Amino acid sequence: RLDQWIERRAAEPVYLDEENGMWRLLDHATVSRVLSDPATFSSDFSGLTPVQEDFEAFRTGMFLTMDPPNHRKLRTLVSQAFTPRTVAGLEPRIREITEELLDGVAGRGRFDIVDVLAYPLPILVIAELLGIPAQDRELFEKWAKVLFSGDQLTESSTMAEIEAALQMIAPTIREMNEYVLAHIRYHRANPSDGLTSKLVRASVDGESLTDQEIVGFVALLLVAGHITTTALIGNATISFDRHPAAADTLRGDPSKLPAALEEVLRCLPPFNELGRRTTTEVELGGRTIPANSIVMANIASANRDPGVFADPEGFDIARTPNPHLTFGHGIHFCLGTPLARMEGRIAFEALYRRYSALSVARDEPVEFQNPAMIVSVRKLPLEVE
Ligand code: HEM
Repeated sequence: RLDQWIERRAAEPVYLDEENGMWRLLDHATVSRVLSDPATFSSDFSGLTPVQEDFEAFRTGMFLTMDPPNHRKLRTLVSQAFTPRTVAGLEPRIREITEELLDGVAGRGRFDIVDVLAYPLPILVIAELLGIPAQDRELFEKWAKVLFSGDQLTESSTMAEIEAALQMIAPTIREMNEYVLAHIRYHRANPSDGLTSKLVRASVDGESLTDQEIVGFVALLLVAGHITTTALIGNATISFDRHPAAADTLRGDPSKLPAALEEVLRCLPPFNELGRRTTTEVELGGRTIPANSIVMANIASANRDPGVFADPEGFDIARTPNPHLTFGHGIHFCLGTPLARMEGRIAFEALYRRYSALSVARDEPVEFQNPAMIVSVRKLPLEVE
């Protein structure tokens, strides 16, 4: 669909998709404008989705789907604990976890990079960040899988199908809720330097996070921080495979990895689109959009806007500046950006150090996730030397 969006952007950067009644916004300026105006373009869809009691418990801390002032309160409190410094302090452990995962396939000439590294690494890092005991990490893997099980749904799934999917995962959601609540209570009684204790201690203007809000934030970390990072590592593996000269440059000088990963993020954003709900009638790109419409800010198309990016269809690992919108824009700008960037960099530093050659195996199919949910590989077999 990317080709269709790109083709349409020049003539009609804002249009109504007759198929599903949603508005699509295709150019960089409109997407940036919409994401920086939460009063007109709300992230709160709670009136439109079915209510499921078990998920309500998480909602209290899921500030991704909140507007100001609630969003500001929670994001400020969480930001006090989840700082770039906390994340930077984790670098040696992320390196160790990466090496341990790759040790699991040491000596093998072929493995699936998703199974071995891209899928487990971000879950283990989130568990590490929260100070989850090693023996309980499998639980995190299980929950992450369940939270993502909506990948079976498509843009045209009915409300009944969505509700049935929610019912199926409700018991696991309850289990996660109980486990994380107990974990938080333990950290209230036994303070440490870890993120959980920092979340418990965080305080702004006399306000602090409730246990249930922290549980919601942990769920948000798994929803927002897991499969997106898997996508980054998988999409980078494919991109570097398709551009061997770029891969040679990176292998020779890994300090070029951060800029190269930004280019991967520009070309293959894990989320093609971010949804917003209009709170009022609004003029956009010469069109009048009624109140309570769903607008889809199309990041994939905005990231290839020729008004902003020279040679937008090219893959330039040294592109600067690179104002892609893959981590969003405005008040909801991704809080995990430093962590995602670090995980991506460490993964490729380790792969290039270990292997003199790595290429996507040509005799096995690459499998992709449901693109309506996320732009990511599900299976990516590699041949390594
Ligand atoms: C928000 C993308 C990794 C935590 C967002 C948003 C985007 C995004 C687009 C904004 C959504 C919106 O405006 O509706 C990504 C991508 C990632 C990534 C592409 C990896 C390549 C992570 C990681 C974490 C994380 C590793 C943490 C472990 C969050 C949180 C929010 C968020 C907490 C909510 C921020 C808010 O609502 O104020 N992410 N993310 N993300 N992300 Fe990420």
